[in-house]
Parts: sequence; C-alpha cells; structure tokens
Amino acid sequence: MLLVETRNGKIIQIRLKYLLCVSLYYCVIKTIENTPMKTIIEPFKIKSVEPINFTTAAQRESLLQEAFYNPFFLHSKDVLIDFLTDSGTTAMSSKQWAGVMDGDEAYAGSKSYFLFENAVRDITGMKHIIPTHQGRAAEKILFSIVGGKGKYVPNNTHFDTTRANVEYSGAEAVDILCEVGKHPEQIADFKGNMDVDALVAFIEKVGKENIPLIMLTVTNNSGGGQPVSMANIRAVRNVCNAYGIPLFIDACRFAENAYFIKQREPEFAYTPIDEIVREMFGYADGCTMSAKKDGMVNTGGWIAMNNDDWAGKARNLLIITEGFTTYGGLARRDLEAIAQGLKEVLDENYLHYRIRSTQYFGEKLTNAGVPILMPTGGHAVYLDASRFASHIPTEQFPGQSIVCELYRHAGIRSVEIGSLMFGKYDEHGKHVAPPMELVRLAIPRRVYTQSHIDYCIEAIIEVYNSREQLRGMKLLYESEYLRHFTAHLSYV
Ligand code: F0G
Repeated sequence: MLLVETRNGKIIQIRLKYLLCVSLYYCVIKTIENTPMKTIIEPFKIKSVEPINFTTAAQRESLLQEAFYNPFFLHSKDVLIDFLTDSGTTAMSSKQWAGVMDGDEAYAGSKSYFLFENAVRDITGMKHIIPTHQGRAAEKILFSIVGGKGKYVPNNTHFDTTRANVEYSGAEAVDILCEVGKHPEQIADFKGNMDVDALVAFIEKVGKENIPLIMLTVTNNSGGGQPVSMANIRAVRNVCNAYGIPLFIDACRFAENAYFIKQREPEFAYTPIDEIVREMFGYADGCTMSAKKDGMVNTGGWIAMNNDDWAGKARNLLIITEGFTTYGGLARRDLEAIAQGLKEVLDENYLHYRIRSTQYFGEKLTNAGVPILMPTGGHAVYLDASRFASHIPTEQFPGQSIVCELYRHAGIRSVEIGSLMFGKYDEHGKHVAPPMELVRLAIPRRVYTQSHIDYCIEAIIEVYNSREQLRGMKLLYESEYLRHFTAHLSYV
C-alpha cells in the first residue's frame, strides 16, 4: 500500500498491485508507439489474377494519336497501370463474390435489398435508403427535386458530375473551400474543409430561401482527396441549424475521411472508425453516395435522407428513371456486394494500408523533387501540373500534356483535373483557368501491389526529369458539358 498526497492536499491510498499494472500498461503502449514503422503490407491474399498487357513505346504513340490525345478513348487492354479512377475499379473480396452468388433477383422486396438497406442505415442512421445505379443517378434525382433556376447549392468543392447535375437543374453550384485547400504546396490536416465564414456571408448575400441544401464532399475529390474535419462538419451543421437549411454529404469516400479524422483530430484518436462514421453522418439530413468508391464495389450507389416529402418524390423519380425502389437500376446481387463492402471498408487494417500506401507513393515522388499536391489525399496522388510543367500556359493544358507523356513513356493512364476539366470561357471567349492544374493518379482499391506503385514512381520521376520536353496542347473538339470525357486534342 502506498500513501499519496493529491494536488488539493487529500491523502489517498494506492495498492502496489494497481500501480504495477498501470506502469506495465504504459510501458507496453509506449513500446508499441515507439516501434519503428514497418513495411505496410497488403492486408489480403490474392485468389484470382488478371493479366495486364505490355505495349511498346511506338505502339503507345500511335494509340495516343488514335485516341485524340485523350486517354478516355484508350482501350483498357492497352493500358499497363490504370490510375484513371478509383471508381468501380475495386477488387471485390471472396465474401463479396459469395454474396453475388447469393443475390435474390426478385424485382420487389428482394432479401438482398433489405441486407443493403440495413447496412446503409447502420452507418448513416437515415430513414429513407434509396438505391441507385451509381452516384450521379442519386445526384440527378436529388437536384431534380431541390434544384432549379434561382437556387444555389454551396459545397466545399463540387465533383464534376455533382456540379453538372446542379447546373442541369438550372441552379448554381458554388464552391466555398477553405483558403489553404486552394494551395497545392501548403500542408494542412484538413484541406477539404468548408470556409464557414464565407458560407455564412454567401447565405446572407443570396438569401437562405434560395439555398435548398448545403453539401459537404468527403473527402474532397476535386480538391485533392483532402479530408474534412469533424470540427468543420459540426461548424457547417451549426450554420445549417441557424438558417434552417438541410445538410447533405457527398459520401463517396466517407471511410477514408473517417480514418483521417482518427489520425489527425486528437479527440478521435481512440474512437473506433465505425463510431466516427456514424457521428459524421449523424450531423447530416441526407447523403448521396457512389458505392463504386468506399462501397468497395464495381457499381452502385444510393440516396439517403430523413425528409419524408423529398424521399417520396425521389422514389417516384427513381421508378421513372432507374427502377423499382428495392433495386434502383442495380442487379440485386450488386446490393449484396455493397452490404458486404460497407463492412470491409470500415476495417482499420484495410484503411491503414489504403491511406499509408497512398502516402508512400506521394513521399517517394516528393523526395525526388516531383511537385505534388500536399499532403497526399486518401485515394489518389495529384501531380501539381503548374509546377511540373511550368513552361506551359494554362490555356495549353499543362496537365493533359503530362497525362499523355505518362502513357507514352510507361503505359500509365491518369486524368487531368485542371483547365481541360474545369476551364471556362469569359464573355469574350477567353480561357479562364480553375484554381489548380492537377494530374490525378487515382488508386483502385486492393488492385495493385507495392511493386506496381514502385514502377509508377520510377516512371513519373523519369518524365519529371525530362519535363522541358513536354509540349502545350490545343482543343480540336469539345462538348457543352463535361468536355474532358470526349475532347479531341493535339499538340500546338
Ligand atoms: N461525387 C464524388 C466526390 C465523386 O468522386 C464521384 C465520382 C461522384 C460524386 C459521382 O459518382 O461516378 O458513381 O456517378 N467520381 C469518379 C472519379 C468518377 O473518378 O473520381 P459516380
């Protein structure tokens, strides 16, 4: 027995046994914390493989020409490492494939739907769960109901399909990202945060009655896969409460966002991921989701919300455009795969590997001097094209020039997120550049191993070291909406 005096002068007795246990506990914890970082291994074994096809540089040169220098037109068999997107490119687990076999293909009331509904409700806590065939279908339905001329939809940063669906409804999509999120070279923990003061000023300017909802995209894909903090979600919720405006989450990468919260917001350091996820959704009145990302599947999505009136309208639109309310344009087996995927994505071993391997990719590039958007986001590494190809003006698409060269040099497919994707024309037809010129290398979930990533690191460094040879590009053809998907380009 030990007698100890506390700070307010009280004498307390502590049994030596307890003292020993507590000391031992702290020794173990500290030893674990101080253990040097070990190699992060893929937390899975590979059961089924898919060959990839090697091409020569000469073949790739002519394939690029045939594709109008737009890798969206390349055939995937001609791509060695495909970083075009992390969407729908996930390798499903054996349990998900088992679910696919077990799908109940009933048109109405399928058991697979109820499995899906329970899984989504379990994490979102929302009342109405409406399946869609992918994220943009959820967006189309939502903004058909709440959008329209004279309306404004603020978001930290709209993804391109979200923006297109808002604008297609006649409403205006407004990005209100925090200042640090607009600077690729600046390092901060939560560069996906909404600028809350600017949000309030915006609401005051246009009037709360003209804002049907406020959106938060987690993680912020167009801004570099950067997370949104729980503090920011709470602050935006407070603004929503003050003005009576609903909050919706664009939830594509909710689990990756939750992992960043756990790592970077001390309050959550010891909170299990599923609890963080529930708290995030708990502040929202609804969400749209592309399950092709953190749903860990090849297709699927949903729209979820608490508002009965909107949900009724959404279900009617769903039946007209997607399918009956218990399948929403999906095969029922897809719903099984989503239900299982939502469990797997919350596994901390998986999330640790996922985020850490993206960081590994980014660190190796940074160490070699390659300019990337800092810090690395969750699902992708973004090359900073303005610094990578600083000799190419924005109207000559520096990012697209890098995209083409990565394919030509090493068979890597990436995507430009800059002037080609988001550039506009002013009233004189002059090019207006977006805030950042980026090239995204989005990493499919559970698909590539570390040696694939090492190969890409080598190739990118080589392209960077001969960057003065990169040439500017010009548009030969562009469509009215989402021009990057179908644009034709050539060199200037
Ligand atoms: N919202 C975000 C933040 C997204 O990243 C995407 C898709 C969508 C909505 C639309 O979902 O594709 O299922 O219709 N992003 C993909 C990408 C296409 O490559 O980043 P979808």
